[in-house]
Amino acid sequence: MKASITLRVDGEQRSLRIDTRTTLLDALREHLGITSAKKGCDHGQCGACTVLLDGRRVTTCLSLAVACDGATVTTAQGLARGDELHPIQQAFLDHDALQCGYCTPGQICSAVGMLEEVKAGHPSFVTEGLTAPDELSDEEIRERMSGNLCRCGAYVNIVAAIREAIGKGATP
Ligand code: FES
Ligand code: FES
Repeated sequence: MKASITLRVDGEQRSLRIDTRTTLLDALREHLGITSAKKGCDHGQCGACTVLLDGRRVTTCLSLAVACDGATVTTAQGLARGDELHPIQQAFLDHDALQCGYCTPGQICSAVGMLEEVKAGHPSFVTEGLTAPDELSDEEIRERMSGNLCRCGAYVNIVAAIREAIGKGATP
């Protein structure tokens, strides 16, 4: 069965007709040619396919595109404003927070979504009490980013990049 849907992807309105079983990841990559979100496991286990869907981070390999009809999708490549990188993107560059780069678009979208969750007061598994702390410890950052795996093991620099971006005014 096929369905017609529209998505606003990285600021552009896109229409597509797809099989209703198509994941959002395949809709982006195979139908729209937007390859920023990566297919790592295709099973919701690695986070490489993470984008912001109406501002919230989601794994697109577990999302059906047809259920996202009308939504706003922001991939890592849509985070920059012209030539100006998003603070998280810049911090990843400055801290060399990548090696092969395959996990990086997902890490960056996840970090942006994570900081919004903190701003909204969401606790993590390691948070004491029921609201997010004002300042994120490295343990909090690691826990909140634990859905995004990096086979190159760039974790130390990823945490450092996120910490610096927060220090430079990225939320929270
Ligand atoms: S490709 Fe979606 S979580 Fe791994
Ligand atoms: S930089 Fe290679 S998987 Fe993360």
